[in-house]
Amino acid sequence: MKKSQIILSKYSPLMAVDTVLRGSDGEVIETPRVCSLCRCGESAMKPLCDGTHATVGFDGTREDSEKAEIEHYEGKEITIVFDRYLCMGAGYCGELEPVFGTHDEPKYEPDEGSVEDIIATIKKCPSGALSYIIDGVHHKNYFKVTQIAVEKDGPYNCEGDIGLIDDQDSDTLLPDADHYTLCRCGGSKKKPICDGSHAENGFKG
Ligand code: FES
Repeated sequence: MKKSQIILSKYSPLMAVDTVLRGSDGEVIETPRVCSLCRCGESAMKPLCDGTHATVGFDGTREDSEKAEIEHYEGKEITIVFDRYLCMGAGYCGELEPVFGTHDEPKYEPDEGSVEDIIATIKKCPSGALSYIIDGVHHKNYFKVTQIAVEKDGPYNCEGDIGLIDDQDSDTLLPDADHYTLCRCGGSKKKPICDGSHAENGFKG
């Protein structure tokens, strides 16, 4: 069991338990041990919930039934692992275009860049969609500090030892994830995971 938890309920905010919450200004937001985080996008107290979800008919049904298989792209020295479900299109991978291509034409060519550059690029990805395998060891845990960092006009960047629990399902949604991004604008098509819709729907907060 992970020390910190985020608990997901269908019509409710995200319940954060034993976590540090950091605002988009980088400052820690003082919260009780258990606090409610807005995920409908309408709270006047963002990132905290003020109950507005109940008046706007928010439905946060978990949307992972069509979760794609995790993809592996094997190179001579490194294998790139891509979990399409977690990707929110942050775009850091596009900085290493020969390997990852562009936003419109992504690709995964592990022999088109140095191992060091590929690792450094993968570690910039906040969503956890990218990780790598070297010598049979899957490297996917990079965060030493456990926290929920609020991204300005974007998702919750969840980092470190935070389990994502579905209270309607004994299965944890992300049992082993070291980092992932959760929607707080209410517009994602794969709730509770951010899918990048905040960049198009004008979300501010
Ligand atoms: S914050 Fe809602 S889609 Fe990213």
